[in-house]
Amino acid sequence: MKPVALDVWARRRVVPRVAVPAQDLLLHHAPIAGDLQAAALRVLASGRYILPASPSPSAPSSSSPLSEVRAFEDEAAHALGVAHAVGVSSGTDALLAMLMAARVGAGDEVITTPFSFIASAAAIARLGARPVFVDIDPATLTLDPEKAAARIGPRTKAVLIVHLFGRAARTEALASACVARHIPLFEDAAQAIGAVDPAGRRAGTIGSAAALSFFPTKNLGGFGDGGMVITDDPALAAAVRLLRTHGATAKFHHTTIGGNFRLDELQAALLRVKLPHLSAWTQARRRVAASYLEALRDLPLGLPPADAGCVWNQFVVRTPDGCRDDLAAHLADQGISTAVYYPIPLHLQPCFAALGHRPGDFPVAEQAASEVLALPLYPELTDDQIGAVVDAVRGFFARVRFSAS
Ligand SMILES: Cc1ncc(COP(=O)(O)O)c(C=O)c1O
Repeated sequence: MKPVALDVWARRRVVPRVAVPAQDLLLHHAPIAGDLQAAALRVLASGRYILPASPSPSAPSSSSPLSEVRAFEDEAAHALGVAHAVGVSSGTDALLAMLMAARVGAGDEVITTPFSFIASAAAIARLGARPVFVDIDPATLTLDPEKAAARIGPRTKAVLIVHLFGRAARTEALASACVARHIPLFEDAAQAIGAVDPAGRRAGTIGSAAALSFFPTKNLGGFGDGGMVITDDPALAAAVRLLRTHGATAKFHHTTIGGNFRLDELQAALLRVKLPHLSAWTQARRRVAASYLEALRDLPLGLPPADAGCVWNQFVVRTPDGCRDDLAAHLADQGISTAVYYPIPLHLQPCFAALGHRPGDFPVAEQAASEVLALPLYPELTDDQIGAVVDAVRGFFARVRFSAS
């Protein structure tokens, strides 16, 4: 027996504890492993791995049955309550194709949040347009709708909101301002598939179109990269379909410059297996979030709002008095993973230096970036694991004796 194995075993016995990894995708997939394997084998045996070039959803080639991608698109559109769903290669490409379809380009401005993953603002910049950042709402950490509405100007081509951490952004004032100014409101719903806003509208159906991501750790995650544009607008859907296959109306006939933004058959087949389980997984996420909210409510932590429509892609707390790193280290010592989404707001990222922003430009986003810490949250967390996280967080605050006032 190797000494290293003995050592690991010895330590495990001496310090029994409930480890809480950031994710456990093997555990997540275990109950549906047979269906996933069958779907994968079906694609392998089909000999067809890439979406056929026909850009029209109603015109599959007569020699082939409906592709996995097209079947997944139909099923996703039905499940999400939209008229059109277009599978693409990633959430990033969904954002890009959606903005390309709206002809966002050089000289345009697109209003968006400085507190997001880079993909949202980067998609705007990649098209030569200017991301115009507006500060966030301190309660929801999503774009402040009143401030964003007030920022709409003559160059504003679109507004791109991000439904962060599984919470549908508040949009009423902004959505009506966009309608009044004839500006499309686009949604980055990569983290919020199935979320519902306080007015009862589903993320992804509030504006003109939305981008979804099937990155493996998203609420509906694939087995590699994947994404989708969802919309009720047939012209926008048709434009994205065209763009995802290099603008080809037929093989080697290109009417516009697009890209290779295709979702592949294997991802689509696997996502078709997972889609029917999404709502049960969302309920399980809500159960974990409710447990954390209840068990941590008396601590000097900023807890995320208890919002019935949130799908809890992340459970992000606000830490007081510069203690984030110490809390994260304390949890890591107990085998509990945490993460910081996002440590640097987008306006202060070096890649956007040309926009000329300075610290202090968006104070709410900057403060959030210095305080946020994500606790582990996924459907398979056991009561023991939730209890271990709660005990560890409570233990930290008991030790450092923060005042709860
Ligand atoms: C808010 C947000 N937008 C866009 C993306 C990009 O998605 P993808 O990784 O599928 O390109 C992500 C992924 O992390 C995201 O969290």
